[in-house]
Amino acid sequence: MVTKEAVLHVLGGIEDPELKKPFTELEMVKFIDIDGGDVTVGITLTASGCPMKEKITRDITEGVKSIEGVNSVKVEFDVMSDEQRDRLKKKLGHGTMPGQAAVLTFAKRFIAVSSGKGGVGKSTVTTNLAAALAHRGHKVGVLDADVYGFSVPRMLGVEGEPIVEDDKIIPLKKGDNLSVISMGFFVNEDEPVIWRGPLLHKAINQFLSDVKWGDLDYLFLDLPPGTGDVTLTIAQALPSAELLVVTTPQQTATHVAGRVARLAEKTNLKVIGVIENMSYYQTGDDRDYIFGKDGGKQLAANLNTNFLGEIPLMKTLREGADNGKPVSIHGSPEQIELFNTIASNIERLRP
Ligand SMILES: Nc1ncnc2c1ncn2[C@@H]1O[C@H](COP(=O)(O)OP(=O)(O)OP(=O)(O)O)[C@@H](O)[C@H]1O
Ligand SMILES: [Mg+2]
Repeated sequence: MVTKEAVLHVLGGIEDPELKKPFTELEMVKFIDIDGGDVTVGITLTASGCPMKEKITRDITEGVKSIEGVNSVKVEFDVMSDEQRDRLKKKLGHGTMPGQAAVLTFAKRFIAVSSGKGGVGKSTVTTNLAAALAHRGHKVGVLDADVYGFSVPRMLGVEGEPIVEDDKIIPLKKGDNLSVISMGFFVNEDEPVIWRGPLLHKAINQFLSDVKWGDLDYLFLDLPPGTGDVTLTIAQALPSAELLVVTTPQQTATHVAGRVARLAEKTNLKVIGVIENMSYYQTGDDRDYIFGKDGGKQLAANLNTNFLGEIPLMKTLREGADNGKPVSIHGSPEQIELFNTIASNIERLRP
């Protein structure tokens, strides 16, 4: 007679192809049904779109068929609840799991803001756009993925230490619609933090998975300069993320920004457009193109993507960023209008 123990024993020797641990240990065996020689095994997957279903079915069928007395084997699937997934995540001891991408759907759109060269205004653009979109009625989150040089808290004027509720970090809020998380909330600004690759990966994934973002329309990810590890971590965790490239009109800046965008294509992040920052300096009717002209438009054309707007050099933009009062909501009518136009360009670009 076929026994449940015999089936469990076999399942204890079959590993989940992605998590590389036996199904029994992962508590993914939901039920075992035995009807004479006909066995049905219920497996609870981490994500509904699990690409490994066929392999799992094959492995389990082969294994269970080897038990004496078994005629047929059927494998049925369902998907873990959030609690089960959290428990498994804890058990595995890391912030992310394969298949997690299908799970991270708390925002309708994930927009990573990148450049390639430092200091071109990524954080300034991110915070102003996020504030503008929140002001337009969207639920917006900003994840400051620059764990070394975090600047988002200061730019948005959000300070404090997030509280933890039911094992989830509650982001800090600016108004009703804007939620913010940054390493700056957890470490002292004057103390250098040294991140090694795996820890950096873990920190970013925790900011995605262990923060109670609620349902968002947009999550902006303010990337550190360069094409480093963080972009790869984000591409892995959020395969559907969009990439927004910020550049100055200067040739060297567009050159590196182009590199980021190509990296994005390799990692399957979709480049949704280019924003040119520090485009010119205006005095009266005169525009001084300090860093050259139209580099952003050229880059957008080269990348076959959208040019979403240009932002001039403005002393008040820098001041607003330093004082936690983004000009996109606190500035002059022209500044509000400028960021509103870019925000509406982004709204229209639904992927
Ligand atoms: N259009 C602008 N006019 C005036 N000042 C600006 C403008 N854009 C950015 N700045 C200022 O330039 C500095 C660098 O901007 P910001 O920190 O946003 O760049 P970043 O690309 O995020 O830098 P990092 O690569 O270090 O993350 C800041 O002091 C900011 O206030
Ligand atoms: Mg920055």
